[in-house]
Amino acid sequence: MESMRSRIDSIRYAASFVLAGCAPTNPTTPVDTTRTATPPDPSVLVVVDPEPPAPVPQPAPTVTVSGETPQDACQAYRDGIDGTPDDPRQHHVAAPSGPAQEGHGGGEPPLRGWATGDGKIMCTIIWEQKSVTAMVMHHPTCCPMPGKQHPCPQPSQRQVQATELLREQVTIVDGRPSRTVERVVIAPPQMRHNCGRRPQGLAFETPSSSSPGDVLATMAVLEAASVVAFDRLARELEAHGAPGELVARARSAMADEIRHTRTLRRLARARGGRAIPWRRAELPVRPRLELGIENATEGCVSEAFGAATALVQAERATDPEVRAAFAVIAEDELEHAALAWDVHAWLVETATPDERDTLHRALCDATRRVEHTDPGRVTREVLGLPDPATSRVLLAQMVEQLGLAA
Ligand SMILES: [Fe+2]
Ligand SMILES: [Fe+2]
Repeated sequence: MESMRSRIDSIRYAASFVLAGCAPTNPTTPVDTTRTATPPDPSVLVVVDPEPPAPVPQPAPTVTVSGETPQDACQAYRDGIDGTPDDPRQHHVAAPSGPAQEGHGGGEPPLRGWATGDGKIMCTIIWEQKSVTAMVMHHPTCCPMPGKQHPCPQPSQRQVQATELLREQVTIVDGRPSRTVERVVIAPPQMRHNCGRRPQGLAFETPSSSSPGDVLATMAVLEAASVVAFDRLARELEAHGAPGELVARARSAMADEIRHTRTLRRLARARGGRAIPWRRAELPVRPRLELGIENATEGCVSEAFGAATALVQAERATDPEVRAAFAVIAEDELEHAALAWDVHAWLVETATPDERDTLHRALCDATRRVEHTDPGRVTREVLGLPDPATSRVLLAQMVEQLGLAA
C-alpha cells in the first residue's frame, strides 16, 4: 500500500510542477514571443507536400542586425528587408495546394526570435499564411494482435484543412544574418490521446476534426476500450494466481472506465462530437511476460501519464463541465496507474533475471513512445490539455519522479 501511495504522489507532483508554472525554459527551445499571431509549431505538425520540396538557401541580405533581445533583433531584421528586393514575397509564388481562404493581409508578419545559448539568434518569420485544403495519409489507431488476427485497417488518404506558409528561418551570428525561405503546407497532426489502457486489437478511425466534441468522442472510445483491457487484466491476474486484492482492483477499475465512457460520451454529444465506431477483439489469457509487457506500457506509463494529464485538465479546462469531469477521472486514473505498478511489482517478484530486464525495458521504451500532439489552441483551452512543450515537461517530471529514466 505504501508503494501505491508514493506512485500516486509522484504523478501528482509531476502535474503540480506544470500547474505551478515551474516548467524550465529550455534555451534551445523556441519561446513563442509572436507579436501578431502564433504560427503553428513545426515540431508538432506534419509538413505535407512542400513546394518547393526542400528549403532553398537564399543569398544573405546585406543588413546588419542588432537588438536588445532576440525578438528585437529578429524584428529589426524583418523591418530591414520589408518591401525591399530581399523581401521573400517578391519572389515566391503560392504553392498549388488549393484555393486561398484567408491571407495574412496587411500588418506586420508574425515572427518569433530566440537565442540558442551559443551566441546565435534564430528567427522564424511567417510572411504569408492562408488556409488551404490538402490530402494527408491517415493511419487508423490500431493495436495489432499477434499473428494474422485482426489486421490493422489500411492507411487512407483524407482531405483536411491545412495552412500554407511562406516561412523564412534566419540565423544571426555577430549581427550578420543567413537564411532559408520555404513555402510549406502544414496539416494538423493525427490525434493520439494518452487517456486509457488500450487493449490489443483495438482499431478505430480518429476524426479528422479536432473540435472539442470530436476530441472528447475520441477520448470516450479510449475509455470504452479500457473497460475491455481491465476485463482481460482481471481474468489474466486470476488465471496466474495473483493476490485477490489485485484482481478486485482490476474489476473496480473496469467499473470506473464504464463511468468515464458514459461521462465523456455525454460531454462529446453535447458539444457536437460524432459517435466513433470501434472494433474490439477476443482477448484470451496470455503468458505472464506478455501480460507484464502490456501492463508496463499501457498501465505503468500510459495510464500514469493519462492521470497526470487529467490532473492538469481538471485545473485548466475553460469548460466548467469538462473541469468537473476530469477532476473525478483524474483521481480514478491515479488509482489505475497505481494498480499497474502493483501488478508490475508482483510480476517482477517471481520473474527470472531476463524477464525482469524485459519488463524494465518495456517501461523505458514506453516513455519514449508517448506522443505529444496538439488539437489546436481552441480545443486545448476548452479541454485544458497541455500544449506539446508543456506535455513534454509533464512526461519528463513523471519519468523522473517514478524513477523511469533509462
Ligand atoms: Fe478512464
Ligand atoms: Fe484508466
